[in-house]
Amino acid sequence: MEVKTSLLDNMIGVGDMVLLEPLSEDSFLENLKKRFDHNEIYTYIGSVVISLNPYRSLPIYTPDKVEEYRNRNFYELSPHIYALADEAYRSLRDQDKDQCILITGESGAGKTEASKLVMSYVAAVCGKGQEVNKVKEQLLQSNPVLEAFGNAKTVRNDNSSRFGKYMDIEFDFKGDPLGGVISNYLLEKSRVVKQPRGERNFHIFYQLLSGASDDMLKKLKLERDFSKYNYLSLDSATVSGLDDAANFRTVRNAMQIVGFMEDEMQSVLELVAAVLKLGNLDFKPESRCNGMDESRVKDKNDLKEMCELLGIEQSVLERAFSYRTVEAKMEKVSTTLNVAQAYYARDALAKNLYSRLFSWLVTRINESIRAQAKTRHKVMGVLDIYGFEIFEDNSFEQFIINYCNEKLQQIFIELTLREEQEEYVREGIEWTNIEYFNNAVICDLIENNQNGILAMLDEECLRPGTVTDETFLDKLNTICAEHQHFESRLNKNSKFLNDHSLPHNCFRIQHYAGKVLYRVEGFVDKNNDLLYRDLSQAMYKANHSLIKQLFPEGNPAKVNLKRPPTAGFQFRASVGTLMGNLQTKNPNYIRCIKPNDKKAAHIFTDSLVRHQVRYLGLMENVRVRRAGYAFRQAYEPCLERYKMLCKNTWPHWKGPARQGVEVLMTDLQVPAEEFAYGRSKIFIRNPRTLFFLEEKRKQCLEDLATLIQKIYRGWKCRSHFLLLKKSEIVVAAWYRRYAQQKKYQKIKHSTTVVQSYTRGWQARKLLRELKYQKKCEEAVTTIAAFWHGTQVRREYRKFFRANAGRKIYNFTIQRIMQKYFLGLKSNLPSMSPIDKSWPARPYSFLEGVHAELRRIFHLWRCKKYRSQFTEEKKAVYEEKLEASELFKDKKALYPSSVSQTFKGDYLEMVKNPKYQKLSSAVDEKILLADVVNKINRANGKSSPRLFLLTKKSVILADQKTGQVKTSLPLPDLSSVSTSTQSDGFFALKLKEGSSSAVKGDFLLSSDHLIEIVTKLHRISSLAADREKLNVDISDEFLVQFKQDKVCVKFIQGSPKNGNGVSCKRKNNRLLEVSVPTSP
Ligand SMILES: Nc1ncnc2c1ncn2[C@@H]1O[C@H](COP(=O)(O)OP(=O)(O)O)[C@@H](O)[C@H]1O
Ligand SMILES: [Mg+2]
Repeated sequence: MEVKTSLLDNMIGVGDMVLLEPLSEDSFLENLKKRFDHNEIYTYIGSVVISLNPYRSLPIYTPDKVEEYRNRNFYELSPHIYALADEAYRSLRDQDKDQCILITGESGAGKTEASKLVMSYVAAVCGKGQEVNKVKEQLLQSNPVLEAFGNAKTVRNDNSSRFGKYMDIEFDFKGDPLGGVISNYLLEKSRVVKQPRGERNFHIFYQLLSGASDDMLKKLKLERDFSKYNYLSLDSATVSGLDDAANFRTVRNAMQIVGFMEDEMQSVLELVAAVLKLGNLDFKPESRCNGMDESRVKDKNDLKEMCELLGIEQSVLERAFSYRTVEAKMEKVSTTLNVAQAYYARDALAKNLYSRLFSWLVTRINESIRAQAKTRHKVMGVLDIYGFEIFEDNSFEQFIINYCNEKLQQIFIELTLREEQEEYVREGIEWTNIEYFNNAVICDLIENNQNGILAMLDEECLRPGTVTDETFLDKLNTICAEHQHFESRLNKNSKFLNDHSLPHNCFRIQHYAGKVLYRVEGFVDKNNDLLYRDLSQAMYKANHSLIKQLFPEGNPAKVNLKRPPTAGFQFRASVGTLMGNLQTKNPNYIRCIKPNDKKAAHIFTDSLVRHQVRYLGLMENVRVRRAGYAFRQAYEPCLERYKMLCKNTWPHWKGPARQGVEVLMTDLQVPAEEFAYGRSKIFIRNPRTLFFLEEKRKQCLEDLATLIQKIYRGWKCRSHFLLLKKSEIVVAAWYRRYAQQKKYQKIKHSTTVVQSYTRGWQARKLLRELKYQKKCEEAVTTIAAFWHGTQVRREYRKFFRANAGRKIYNFTIQRIMQKYFLGLKSNLPSMSPIDKSWPARPYSFLEGVHAELRRIFHLWRCKKYRSQFTEEKKAVYEEKLEASELFKDKKALYPSSVSQTFKGDYLEMVKNPKYQKLSSAVDEKILLADVVNKINRANGKSSPRLFLLTKKSVILADQKTGQVKTSLPLPDLSSVSTSTQSDGFFALKLKEGSSSAVKGDFLLSSDHLIEIVTKLHRISSLAADREKLNVDISDEFLVQFKQDKVCVKFIQGSPKNGNGVSCKRKNNRLLEVSVPTSP
């Protein structure tokens, strides 16, 4: 729920001074101070807003605040400038009343800020849209431009407006802004050439020098140094809290938004630069032949640069500073200027240049912001005019400014009173007049057409003969002497005769806001506002479109001999127009008050505020307001606010609001004299009555709050319960729906499953049938296809070449193989098994075959070789093989035996008759017969014996007789021992215990040792019933001789008796055989 804070709620002090009780100046001030201390800078007197300058930013201008005050009644919320702006805007929009916002107050009281706040509020609440926003933006952005050129730092205000401004904002019937018109009033142009101590020239000069780029300054022929320019005061060139450079950018940006072209901006800055240059011109006297001094420009550099900037011919301007042409009735007279006159001319030119530039800016802005549509506009005027000023040294400007303020005060008095009076008449209330100070008399003193000060000044200016400020003062003294508000030394009013506070060349006016002492010096000149014609003509000749525009009177074709209207006259006229304009509009007042002279926050200087309250006539304002009725309110809001105080009107009153209020008042027993019923409003005379109503309302609100709470709680519980109940039904319904849905889905699912199985089964059955049918069809087709294929192939086989490749391949392979085999046949190596040669392989793919054939061929060759052997030869080879096994690499004699054939019967026993007897004595077949030497055991000498070997025994027989000497059955032999050397010795060792052993072992020597031992071994191994005969090959072995064992030892060496083997008995135990070293 929206929280409404009323003017009367949470009030600090009293929000509306009309309600102040008791009403006195002190309580008034106290209330202001109390509110000021609590940051409440706005206070009402009825519909007038008093605004105290807080000198610091307060958080009360936020967009939220704008929303808060939007479309709300004036007294509904706590006092704020937005309330006034809203009231004015709504009454303009809804009631079609043109409005004006009159902002008054001293310099620095916050008028300009207030005007900007009003404009920004109206901009925020009025219509939106691209076009509207552009208009708004242009209207708002005109402020920074005008402030840069028309504001300056003064001792009272760092951003003091040095011109008066009235801006009409035009709206269409919907309340959307269409455009605006700005009027400017009398720029304080004397500031261009001279500034009072502690003040500055217009902001734009400083902004240009600090903010312009180096490039731009170069173009404008300026330097960034303030001290280089005579027209710039240096003592307060920089102002704390004022960033000139940043402001320069803001101004340029604003100019752009308002619609200035780039070249226009450039021209404007060129003019500003020219003014600075102008200030630097110096003059020196030059004596002329007639004894008069003539002025000359001292340093022509600045003049040259200025002329270049403005496109003026230098000589023309130079001449204009030395001569002056006076035209009268077709006659031209040229007089020289002295140095003082030249300086006067220079300053006059600078002031004119600048003030005309300023007026041109306003005109140019007006061109941009002018409303386009020709429909009837509603207008809201905002007047921000310079405030009442009292300086130490007050001149023509202050006189004019203060005159303007007098006029405004006048209009305030008139309008407030008239408005108030009219309201009572409108509402049919009885009304008695209230006394107040009417400043019309002061206005008359100044502006009266016959003997007003301005009129006399004009008269003096136009009078022929010598005119000085003193003659003007004299005139004032004679004519205004009797006036109540005029004072001077020569006043006929004797009481002032001795007033030493009033210097000779001054006069004093008792303004509504205080006495002001004016120094007459400069009044005549300033009022004349003369610019020598030569200078305006020089300007007109400039090759610079803006300058040309600013000095139209310099056009030689339009020489106007009539004097231009005086400054005072112009101003009076424009103020007159303004006043006329304001009177047609519904006024809204903002009265700004300066809380202190220090431009400081939180300080409330009592005396200063008191003075302002006095001269602004605020007390009278309250009194006037209260003389009738302190408070008034339309019946509807009044009934709405207090209806809870009476049972009949609470909670709703059915009849007209006025009757409701009447019932209410009767019920509350408010005394009849305390209020009056108007046509649309109730008027309450005394604030006490209002407070009584408020107090009652407050009590009642508490009870109501309890009631509302009670009802609310009940309502809340009930609605909560109902909600729960409703929710429960909803939940149950949803759950049932859900459960049913689930059940249904289950059934549906099962049905689907059953269905799908059945369908599947049917489908499969059908599929099987179809498949079978298809298979049959396919089989038939296949058979037919094959059959057809066969037939076709058969028919076409002869034409086919498909098998040709294979055949050719086979054929080629066959040929290659044939060739290979035939070649191999003709190239076969010899049949010798030891021949290792083999023809080369012709093709690598035959590698395996080739190797295999080689192996087969070799095996076959060996077989062939073997098959040539007879049985005997085979036996011989077997014996040879056995000999090899026994002796190869063991006995040195063996190699020589390999080539010898084993003859066996060397003695040819059968054929030789010598051995007939012996052979018949041996039953067995004789396997070997030879002559061996039997070594005598006693001396080692040998004696030949016949050696026969049969299958069963070894027989030794006498060589000569053939008599058998010993027959050794082979089983009695245990082993045979031989040496490793090439000798033929061998020992036949007998088994111990055998019958033959008695005679001892035999040591024999034979040329066929290898054959003998081999055969002996072969017989023993062939006989199945016997052990194999051992063959020991060693160079030392033991031999059993009867009882002794003798060691036979073989040594190598050359025996004494030739090359043969010799054997010697060395001792009982050793028999040494010496064997010649084998070759
Ligand atoms: N409502 C305000 N809130 C904050 N500061 C203010 C307000 N009104 C005025 N000021 C301060 O006071 C200075 C002077 O106000 P200004 O409006 O220029 O005075 P005036 O136009 O009456 O000479 C401003 O520059 C600003 O600093
Ligand atoms: Mg101002």
